[in-house]
Amino acid sequence: MTKSSAPGKIILFGEHAVVHGRPALAVPVIQVHAGVDVSDSSRAGIWIDASDINLQAELNTLPSDHPIASVVHNFLFLSRVSSFPNLEIKITSTIPVASGLGSGAAVTVALTRALASHLNYPMTDEEVNAFTYEIEKLHHGTPSGIDNTVITYAKPVYFVKGRSIEVFKVEQPFTIVIANTGISAPTKESVADVRTLWEADKVRWETVFDEIGEIVDQARKAIESEQWEMLGDLMNQNHSLLQKMTVSSPELDQLVEAARNARALGAKLSGGGRGGNMIALVEPEMAESVSSSLREAGAKNVIITQVT
Ligand code: PMV
Repeated sequence: MTKSSAPGKIILFGEHAVVHGRPALAVPVIQVHAGVDVSDSSRAGIWIDASDINLQAELNTLPSDHPIASVVHNFLFLSRVSSFPNLEIKITSTIPVASGLGSGAAVTVALTRALASHLNYPMTDEEVNAFTYEIEKLHHGTPSGIDNTVITYAKPVYFVKGRSIEVFKVEQPFTIVIANTGISAPTKESVADVRTLWEADKVRWETVFDEIGEIVDQARKAIESEQWEMLGDLMNQNHSLLQKMTVSSPELDQLVEAARNARALGAKLSGGGRGGNMIALVEPEMAESVSSSLREAGAKNVIITQVT
């Protein structure tokens, strides 16, 4: 049997502007992960068992654009496996689906690595990343590629679309609280809406994207120089710009407000917005009380994670 797993991820700074060529910072979230076991099967076919999403099926009975089936089909095509092997593929995930924690990319990375190793088709991280990006494009329109990158490398990344990946070192770990609104909002739609805004007034939105890019660069410096108050302020500034871009929501704003009132150093939405997650930077000893305030303010799920 061959096993592989991949962590979740969260965007710290720069979402949306990253689609338009500005940098963004994202980090792995190891509290949640996707795991895949691949083994030879005694029954004919490629059997997929993903009980978390109630899926037990033979590959060819699934639509070819099914997120999991598309990974297997594309992998078999890529690796030029001549005759289809009989396989059992077991997929488990503790990453909530469609929650901005990168569940799709994590399943793709883990599944690709497990298949590659089981079928003796060695792949470098770069190849796994490029393959996962192609799969992300099938399901998410025009993604920047940040999710597949941070999940493949499982390290904090400073990401600029189309540039070679830059992992960055966090010398002094810091704590963030991630809270989910419980509202699922497709990233594809918020990305398309921001594009519509941009098309209607490119000068205005290019300026906003530049401001976000500037915040991202300052945030990286603040992390490297361990200036947590400044990092918190930068989160607040990034959130204001995301509000301008219409990708926040009353529920996200309420959680952001609750975190700030509970003495988080700063807070912002994270990811596609309109629903999904927000994050708050906290002193480690404040993590529990900020988490409780977030739950009281309506958060459906809260994760405390250390960025290392
Ligand atoms: O919704 P998430 O966490 O997958 O993040 C989307 C981030 C965007 O910048 C909005 C889109 C992208 O592809 O980078």
